[in-house]
Amino acid sequence: MAKILLLGSGELGKEFVIAAQRIGQTVIAVDSYENAPAMQVAHAFEVINMLDSDALDKVVAKHNPDFIVPEIEAIRTERFYDYEKQGITVVPSAKAANFTMNRKAIRDLAAKELGLKTAEYRYATTAQELRKGVLEVGIPCVVKPLMSSSGKGQSTIKTEADIEKAWEYAVAGSRGDVVEVIVEAFVKFNSEITLLTVTQNNNRTLFCAPIGHRQERGDYHESWQPARISDKDLYEAQDMAEKVTEALGGAGLFGVEFFLADDGVYFSELSPRPHDTGMVTLAGTQNFNEFELHLRAILSLPIAEITLEKTGASAVILASENSANPTYTGIEKIAALAKTDFRIFGKPSSRPYRRMGVALTNDSLETPVEEVVERAVKAADLVTVNS
Ligand SMILES: Nc1ncnc2c1ncn2[C@@H]1O[C@H](COP(=O)(O)OP(=O)(O)OP(=O)(O)O)[C@@H](O)[C@H]1O
Ligand SMILES: [Mg+2]
Repeated sequence: MAKILLLGSGELGKEFVIAAQRIGQTVIAVDSYENAPAMQVAHAFEVINMLDSDALDKVVAKHNPDFIVPEIEAIRTERFYDYEKQGITVVPSAKAANFTMNRKAIRDLAAKELGLKTAEYRYATTAQELRKGVLEVGIPCVVKPLMSSSGKGQSTIKTEADIEKAWEYAVAGSRGDVVEVIVEAFVKFNSEITLLTVTQNNNRTLFCAPIGHRQERGDYHESWQPARISDKDLYEAQDMAEKVTEALGGAGLFGVEFFLADDGVYFSELSPRPHDTGMVTLAGTQNFNEFELHLRAILSLPIAEITLEKTGASAVILASENSANPTYTGIEKIAALAKTDFRIFGKPSSRPYRRMGVALTNDSLETPVEEVVERAVKAADLVTVNS
């Protein structure tokens, strides 16, 4: 049986550990704080700063895992290349994890090397350079720190007067030592999707049915599966997903994000790991959920097919206040609903907008997806996180 070192122990990691436990694997869960969700279900845990290379090296040497499975971006991923040389499998590959922790590496790979269609973009290391970039890509446009996630430091420029504050906001929201931003033309998309893509060792690449989602304040609020998309757009997205995952290498599940606009499909970005919008697969929409797929691909267990079994939706349950001992009310109300399920992640503390749980709904494939989403939103509203 394999020994897996999980770097990042949030709710996505927790579901991954549960999937691994079910087929007898050993998992050591790592995060920067104790009692993180995935630690609660793992064999062992470690608390370190994963951006600290020495601390990372020590944990890897101590456990000598077969696999390193990153769950987050904020890790000293440069070290992954050495771990690979030591014979450890970094999931899906050291390159995939390292390229996606910085928007520049993945965007240049996608747009320049692979020729995928993306929003027009420029980089900037000063407010003056940003001004130049903004004028080149045009207004409106979106500014993001090269290193950030969950919309941190991201803002939309609507007039030239916004440039200075967009720069300052991006610098303040930047993670790590890089002070550089990307400015992208605003894509007037009709919808956005996540295409969960599974690359396998010695087997073909598989796609899940596309997942639709709605973002607010940089995080997703609802996701649903299947998303409405034309066959033409779907094939285009699948073709782009196949190209970019192949270039990154390795086996595992990727969440590839696209914008669907009047003038076609735009590649946006990707996670080389289960995606938060993919929690909808916990609603029983597929024969395997995204965590089981990731695990099977990693372990080189052949996946014959991915089937869509039901229409489903997920809606997040957020905290509204700071608490060192969050409690929940309304659980019995959500439990009473038909074709509805939920997860409470067991996070030891809350803060405003922190994701604490998720409501999950499903129905037959004939049911309009909007109805299933509406039920998920109402179900999530029944639960309150108390401080
Ligand atoms: N160029 C763009 N045009 C229009 N909308 C955009 C653009 N870039 C980003 N957005 C919107 O902002 C959201 C977040 O952007 P992006 O995925 O790049 O950031 P992120 O911080 O990595 O988010 P996450 O980590 O939550 O996926 C997108 O899902 C989309 O709704
Ligand atoms: Mg994103």
